[in-house]
Amino acid sequence: MSQTKIHKALSGPTLESLGPVTAEEAQLLERLDLARLPRHVAVIMDGNGRWAQKRHLPRVAGHRSGTQTARTTIETCARLKIDALTLYAFSVENWRRPKTEIDFLMQLLREYLKKEMPLLQKNEIRMRFLGRLEELPAGVQRDVREAMDKTAGNTGMVLCVALNYGGRAEIVDAMNAILGEHQGNGASSRITEEQLARHLYTEGLPDPDLLIRTSGEMRVSNFLLWQIAYAEIFVTDTLWPDFNRARLLEALVEFQKRERRYGGIREDRPTTEKPARVAGE
Ligand code: FPP
Repeated sequence: MSQTKIHKALSGPTLESLGPVTAEEAQLLERLDLARLPRHVAVIMDGNGRWAQKRHLPRVAGHRSGTQTARTTIETCARLKIDALTLYAFSVENWRRPKTEIDFLMQLLREYLKKEMPLLQKNEIRMRFLGRLEELPAGVQRDVREAMDKTAGNTGMVLCVALNYGGRAEIVDAMNAILGEHQGNGASSRITEEQLARHLYTEGLPDPDLLIRTSGEMRVSNFLLWQIAYAEIFVTDTLWPDFNRARLLEALVEFQKRERRYGGIREDRPTTEKPARVAGE
C-alpha cells in the first residue's frame, strides 16, 4: 500500500463524523464507499430566485436560504474529508443583476464570513477565493483577505468561493500572467498545459471530479472551464435552497456509479493532471 493510501485509510472519514443522520441519509450512506469519494466537488448553486418565487417571496429570500444550504454542504464535505469544495457564488455576468440584489449578495457573503468563522476553524477549513477579486468593493476585498489569512494555517478541506469569477476570464488572466513572465525572462513562447494550470486561480488544487448543478439547467455557465475537462456532471432538478444533506449524499452515490475513463479504457487519471496535492502544502 502506498503512503498516501495508508494515510487515507488511517485518517479517512467515518460515519460518526457526520453526527446524527436521518433514516434517508443512513440508507444513502450505506451505499456510499467512503474510500472512493471525489477529491474535489464543484457546485453551481442555482435556483434561489425560483425557490423564492414559488413561495411569493423576494428573490433575496432565496439567496438567504441558499446560504444555509451552502453551510450544510460545506460542513458535510469537510466532515467527509473531501479535499476541496468550490462554490460558484458570483459570476462576472452577475453584475448585470439589479444593484439591490448585487449589494445583498455581497452583504450576505460578508455576513457569512463573519458568522461562520468559528465553524470554519472548528472544521479546519482553509478558504480561497477564485476570481477577479481586485474588482470587488473594498469592504468585500478586506473580508475576503481576512478570511484567507485567518484560515491559512488550517489543514482540512480547501473551500473555494468563486467570486466575480468567469472561466474565460480565468484563462485570459493565466495567459497574461504567463506572457508577463515570458517577457521578463525571455523564455520560449510555447505554453504547456501544466504551465497554464499553474497560473489558474485553482493553482495547486486537484481538478474537480464531480460538478453538481442544481435546478435542472444543462449548462456549464462559464464555470471552471479548464478544470472540469474530465469531471462527472450531476444535474438535479432540486433548487439550491432545497439541496439538503441527503441530496448531496445522493450526488456522491451517483458519482460512484459512473465509470471514469478519461478517454482511455479504464479508470486512470490522465498524465497531465496534477498530483493529489492541495495548495499551500
Ligand atoms: C443562483 O440562483 C445563485 C446565485 C447567483 C448566488 C449564490 C449565492 C449564495 C447561495 C450566497 C452564499 C454563498 C456562500 C458561499 C456563503 P439564481 O438567483 O440565479 O436563481 P434563479 O435561476 O432561480 O433565478
